[in-house]
Amino acid sequence: MTALQTIAARAPGFAPRIAVVLGSGWGGLTAQIQNPVRIAYAELPGFPAAGVAGHGGELWLGQIGQHGVAVMSGRQHGYETGAVDGMRQALQVLQSLGCELLVQTNAAGSLRQDLPPASLMVLSDHLNLPQRSPLVGQTGSERFVDMVGAYDPELRRQALALAAEQGATLQEGVYAWAFGPQFETPAEIRMLALLGADAVGMSSVPETILARYLGLRVLALSLITNMGAGLSGERLSHAHTLSQAAAASQQASGLLAHIIANLNLD
Ligand code: HPA
Repeated sequence: MTALQTIAARAPGFAPRIAVVLGSGWGGLTAQIQNPVRIAYAELPGFPAAGVAGHGGELWLGQIGQHGVAVMSGRQHGYETGAVDGMRQALQVLQSLGCELLVQTNAAGSLRQDLPPASLMVLSDHLNLPQRSPLVGQTGSERFVDMVGAYDPELRRQALALAAEQGATLQEGVYAWAFGPQFETPAEIRMLALLGADAVGMSSVPETILARYLGLRVLALSLITNMGAGLSGERLSHAHTLSQAAAASQQASGLLAHIIANLNLD
């Protein structure tokens, strides 16, 4: 069976409008899904084999507030295999299912003193530093995707207003994609700040490109887990990222659920 057939068999007639990809620290969102149907990626041909600790590997279908959602708990990163199109088929399936919007989440390092650990940032733009594209090999003129306004200005405005309504602080900024899996050097962090980035992370940019290619609007949020290398005394590690992400997880997931529940997509 194809992924779409499996989904149709497990959740007949379900046509979510919002796709969500959960990164480190954002897994708590799944507790906010009403009437969830869970399907392991292993049962969905084309979905990634989730291999990074701290990530799930399940598709959750259900309702958050007024919206039907398809939530991917776990993503594939470029640093796992070197390929950057690992999310292509999954996003294509979610678009075929009816999704019009991709909400992306990730954990990131901060390049700004006024964006300390536990801060939340809505992406206004990105820097594709590796200059890698998940669209290499596609044919046709659709591959020449316009990336102006890739992070939907209207949905960003709504997210900021919904955060303010909750009394939550949500900042806006530019996300730099570092390929990883090693963390950056202090010199690289200084370079990224000079280039105009506010945060740095190892994900999301390929998915944003894919989403725009597929005609999906994009809203993306970063949970800041640490200051960039050399900007504070702390040593960076995956365990540190995960523990910081866990500490801020409830607040992040709560805000995300509020935003998704109340987005106006019209
Ligand atoms: N660099 C890259 N990716 C990250 C970081 C970082 O400092 N923190 C969380 N993800």
